Amino acid sequence: MLIPEDKISEILNRADIVDVVSDAVALKKSGHNYFGVCPFHSEKTPSFSVSPQKQIFYCFGCGAGGNAFSFLMKHHGLVFPEAVKMLARKYGIEVETETMDPGVKKKMAFREGLFRLNRRVSEHYFQTLQTSNRARAAREYLAARKISQETIDRFRIGYAPDAWDDMVTFFRKLKLGRRLAEASGLVVPRKRKNGYYDRFRNRVVFPIFDVNMQVAGFGGRVMDDAVPKYLNSPETPVYNKSRILYGLHQSKTACRQEGVVYIVEGYFDFLSLYQHGVKNSVATLGTALTDEHVRVLKGYASKMVLVFDSDTAGVNAARRSVGTFVRQGVELGILVLPKGKDPDSFVCEHGKAAFEEAAAGAMAVIPFLTEVALEKHGLSIEGKIRVLDDIKQSIAGVEDSAARSLYVREISQRLGLDENAVLEKVRTAGVGITTADGESQSRKTGELESDKREKQMLSLMIQDSTVREEIRKKNILDYFFSERLRRIGNRVERCDRQGSLLAADLMSCLENSEDQELIASLAMMEVPGVDNLHEKSVSLMNRIVKIRNKRDNRLADKIKKAEQGGNSELSLELLAKRQMEVRKLHGYEK
Ligand code: GTP
Ligand code: MN
Repeated sequence: MLIPEDKISEILNRADIVDVVSDAVALKKSGHNYFGVCPFHSEKTPSFSVSPQKQIFYCFGCGAGGNAFSFLMKHHGLVFPEAVKMLARKYGIEVETETMDPGVKKKMAFREGLFRLNRRVSEHYFQTLQTSNRARAAREYLAARKISQETIDRFRIGYAPDAWDDMVTFFRKLKLGRRLAEASGLVVPRKRKNGYYDRFRNRVVFPIFDVNMQVAGFGGRVMDDAVPKYLNSPETPVYNKSRILYGLHQSKTACRQEGVVYIVEGYFDFLSLYQHGVKNSVATLGTALTDEHVRVLKGYASKMVLVFDSDTAGVNAARRSVGTFVRQGVELGILVLPKGKDPDSFVCEHGKAAFEEAAAGAMAVIPFLTEVALEKHGLSIEGKIRVLDDIKQSIAGVEDSAARSLYVREISQRLGLDENAVLEKVRTAGVGITTADGESQSRKTGELESDKREKQMLSLMIQDSTVREEIRKKNILDYFFSERLRRIGNRVERCDRQGSLLAADLMSCLENSEDQELIASLAMMEVPGVDNLHEKSVSLMNRIVKIRNKRDNRLADKIKKAEQGGNSELSLELLAKRQMEVRKLHGYEK
């Protein structure tokens, strides 16, 4: 990583973390800081905070934290220089790439090359659809499916002609290198002979955009009953299927405005909805929904509605996806459309208002799961027991106790069972459920006392320059037990930045994201008022020095006594004990 420090500072100075985070997380102001639902772990109540003064973010739930660069890295899966470039671009700052690490630079250039290529290819397919004689059937097909010219323009829908070498020729004209050509996934190496053939042939082509409006990949549909009906790009360095949702680049604003996102399966479902004015949806393109997808969507809407066909495949897909949402505490509705209808045909036939009305009646998760289980097992005695077994875990997972007891009542009525019997089942399912929060809690309580003190000290040091000065003068860091905290303290001492941006600056010189997170948490710790600050810091310094001296003296004493008494065995034992103690103190460190 060889981007000049002053460049990094310049970008950090210009950027606003609230602005940057807002692109991905819905934030609300509260006091000095902004809060939102953490995009990095599953939670219902917002514990993700952003400080405009300090220009850092920190999640009190999962401990994720850092500055604007770290946020982009974490959220988009970028390496540091990519995050620097992304932020620089956003704020119109030039970055000299010549100074970058060659390996990283190469990788970045490659990804950028792929994006550029995809953009050109997308325009090529688009132009083919618009102008080529060979595309007449495709134009007719889209018309028959009621896709307007405006939609075609907006989503750059195109056509891959019925040939094996259209793309191959296009690549040749571009004088495209072999590596980029292969990585694009748009051409496939021939098995026996040399050379390549086109992946997409005689298909209507949909470019798949990422949220930054870059073309990440493509999907293509046949125009008859040939199989496979749809074909998508393979995973490439720029196309990550577990992350990308079709249409989000166009629908994100509407999702924010409505606070709801409709999740549909197909390209045409998405496009029809959009065309009919339902602009807050995304399509999963038939792949299973991942935690990652839901995490991305959480940045745009707190409520999500899964929209499915009533066929068994649709219902099964809904059932499988439910866990992902429940785990992440998303308010979820499940809309199962009438028999024989998918969102596309439904909205074409009945229009926007009817769709939204149907969506308003979407089922909550537990009733949905109950109905699915009932359908499967029936209402015989054994059936009821199986139904309960199927859904007890989900009910136990409902965090709100009022909601949980309402569900218990509803289900007992639906099954004609005693409420207590249902409750009992749910209780047994609830045993042993541990939340991610519970785990981090125990890790916290297991923290060493010395660590706590030293962290407090660092926190004051980061947030106040007079404390920093004092610590330096008295060499307080030398008395730290934790090597890691001492190392971070040393960095803080060396950082010449004054004022509230120290933490944000500091992070860009720490490679290790755990260290960044620690800094973020220290910077977000409450500090006492000005009057108490001095008092508090002096007393902390004194305790740190005193405890360290006492511990060292006690052991040194014992060792000395043992040696004087000629008891070498004891002295060795004590020495070992001392080493143990030291190891234990720092044992969790790498
Ligand atoms: P249309 O028949 O064009 O209306 O498509 P649909 O969206 O109604 O079809 P379906 O419900 O069968 O599929 C939903 C989505 O799953 C599609 O939009 C595709 O993204 C995906 N899909 C369907 N069939 C295939 C396939 O054969 N291969 C792949 N890779 N994806 C498919
Ligand atoms: Mn369809």
